[in-house]
Amino acid sequence: MRKINIIGAGLAGLSAAIHLAQEGIACRLISLQPSERAQSVMAEGGINAALNTMGEEDTVEQHFADTVRGGAYLADENAVQGLTEHAPEIVRRLCSIGVPFNRKGQELVLRNFGGQKKKRTAYSKSSTGKILMSALIDEARKYEAKGLIKRYPHHCLTSLIIENNACIGVEITDLYTGNEGKLYGAVILASGGMNSLFPEMTTGTAVNTGDATAIAFSQGVELANLEFIQYHPTTAAIAGKRMLISEAARGEGGRLYVWENNQPYYFMEEKYPELGNLMPRDVISREMIKTGKQVYLEMAGIPSEAWSRLSDLRDECIRLLGVDPHGCAIEVSPGIHYFMGGIYVDEKHRTSLSGLFAAGECACQYHGANRLGGNSMLGAIYGGSVAAESASAYIGNSAVKEPEWNEKHQSRLLNDYAVNDEVAKILRDALGIFRTEETLVKALNDLNTLDSSGYSENDKKRLEVAKAMVMSALNRKESRGAHTRTDYPETSEAFQKTTVVQYQNGNITLSMRDIARRVAE
Ligand code: FUM
Repeated sequence: MRKINIIGAGLAGLSAAIHLAQEGIACRLISLQPSERAQSVMAEGGINAALNTMGEEDTVEQHFADTVRGGAYLADENAVQGLTEHAPEIVRRLCSIGVPFNRKGQELVLRNFGGQKKKRTAYSKSSTGKILMSALIDEARKYEAKGLIKRYPHHCLTSLIIENNACIGVEITDLYTGNEGKLYGAVILASGGMNSLFPEMTTGTAVNTGDATAIAFSQGVELANLEFIQYHPTTAAIAGKRMLISEAARGEGGRLYVWENNQPYYFMEEKYPELGNLMPRDVISREMIKTGKQVYLEMAGIPSEAWSRLSDLRDECIRLLGVDPHGCAIEVSPGIHYFMGGIYVDEKHRTSLSGLFAAGECACQYHGANRLGGNSMLGAIYGGSVAAESASAYIGNSAVKEPEWNEKHQSRLLNDYAVNDEVAKILRDALGIFRTEETLVKALNDLNTLDSSGYSENDKKRLEVAKAMVMSALNRKESRGAHTRTDYPETSEAFQKTTVVQYQNGNITLSMRDIARRVAE
């Protein structure tokens, strides 16, 4: 039987699994946590599509232009073309499987989101990720019943099986029994961002370890654009992580201010009259740091009818922060929210290793130097289906070997979700919103000279990704999107390229690759 292994059961993994199952190809959905606990469940704001439901005069071309400009011209334009072109059909398909997007009468209501010229974000209050995931989990069940999707929750990837320069399967471990399996077939990685490298600093779950990325890197798979780490402007401190206060709050009228001369100073509105509090995330985060003051998010002026669309967000603020945003401003500061970089893929989601594909946040492609809000769920769903199509074309009609299991019956519960403290501190100090040659050189030197002999296998692999991240930031001698060098404040045309890193024979090599520009019709 034809079989494909998918690592990760969030939006990208589910989308790939459903796509394959619809073609009659069986797949294994392997994940640390069940889909219900994937990071995608926590996505809040919405999903972008030029739908024009209420005369917004939006177009696919405008969505394309906003995405490419938002990504500071580093995104693969052919991939963005496919993404934006398919977006309306994806949202309509989600409606057809019962996703309850907010509506007015028969029509979807679209909301404003950062860095976009038109209202194009379809949403379900401020729990869009949870709602989309419920629908896709339910859709996947139909195929689970037919045996076309088989789930392996609580399993971790330990290695890719590579033969003759092609990926022919995965080695995985059952975290509850310790049983080790070799599962054959092409592989799609859909394992999410690299949160484990930045403990306590991200809005993402710690269980989104990025270990699959680190494993692939250690086995020679190319990664790209690791220097681009998105800081979301409005996050709040809670135990162990940053809590996201969705951009939807500003989309509905929330305002950022600092205290100046005993009164609120709405710095974004003063400096950027056109988009104000909805400037792209990189711009707002830098402006917040530049104030040198505590920034507040004021939501008191949001019209009363809009609160029903933010009711989940309000509940969370009350429950987790002890603040009712209806009456009281919230202290916010930028927190890591998304990794634009990751596994290098082409527009068909093929990695540098044949037989291996990647989609969702673990892959680098659509978002260039900075992702627009509302494009991540879209990228995960669309990317998952493209990766599935490419994997299915790759395997053709070839059947796979039966799995081999080595039974241990000894639980191996993961307890190393976060990178070693030493590495975490070096990254935190070097890869903030503002970077300099001096701090990056010091960080790279510290990473190269630390004693890692006692590190776990995972930590050794994470360490190599950490080095590659710092090397990428050091090499990019310009400021672009989410990467700001105070010593190179200008954007340089010479760096309008993708940074590609590869680990081979114990060394990391770095090169700059041309960007795929849209092919004219
Ligand atoms: O602010 C937000 O709701 C985030 C959305 C996104 O990153 O797409």
